[in-house]
Amino acid sequence: MEKKKLLIGVIVGSLRRGAYSRAIANALCELAPEGLELKFVEIGDLPLYNEDLDEDNNVPGPYTRFRGEIAACDGFIFVTPEYNRSIPAALKNALDVGSRPYGQNKWDGKPGAIVCTTPGTLGAFGASVALRQPMSFLNILLLQQPEVYISRVHELLDEKGKLINESTREFLRSFLLAFEKFAFKIASK
Ligand SMILES: Cc1cc2nc3c(=O)[nH]c(=O)nc-3n(C[C@H](O)[C@H](O)[C@H](O)COP(=O)(O)O)c2cc1C
Repeated sequence: MEKKKLLIGVIVGSLRRGAYSRAIANALCELAPEGLELKFVEIGDLPLYNEDLDEDNNVPGPYTRFRGEIAACDGFIFVTPEYNRSIPAALKNALDVGSRPYGQNKWDGKPGAIVCTTPGTLGAFGASVALRQPMSFLNILLLQQPEVYISRVHELLDEKGKLINESTREFLRSFLLAFEKFAFKIASK
């Protein structure tokens, strides 16, 4: 039977207290349409991926927790800043942890979307491009349009980190509706 609501893991690329990317992720949770339940999946406690840890029968608790949460999700929204024209190492590490042990890729075949944020002016475009490469290998099915690049992000938030820019809220609403439609299409296959 087709699900009425899909569980979407929200993965934030920044570990920083007060991260702008998390503020935007909070706004996405607030704006979620009826068919999507958005839930944060945290990545900050994941040890750097090391195959030995999977082989020693001593798998770190955070790996097990994270893999279980990823496996339970129907799809993912990655909300990330750009680090040196790429993605933060913590986010790449999370993708790696979720892809292993070999043959147990937890991301496989699920829908995903990218939201990039920066206080700069280039929309964190480099992070979006860089994230597409592992996503395609991991077979996370990417929502292609609309692309989401949020520049000058700090100017769109109030002092508590709430998204107060109405046109950005409207755009994120339309992005979420597009992702909802896309995710249900994949879920029904
Ligand atoms: C290691 C590092 C590299 C960065 N590289 C970029 C970059 O390539 N492009 C960019 O727009 N901002 C870059 N920044 C600035 C970040 O966009 C800024 O610190 C932002 O607030 C980080 O996102 P957050 O607020 O979600 O933590 C970099 C920041 C750090 C710490």
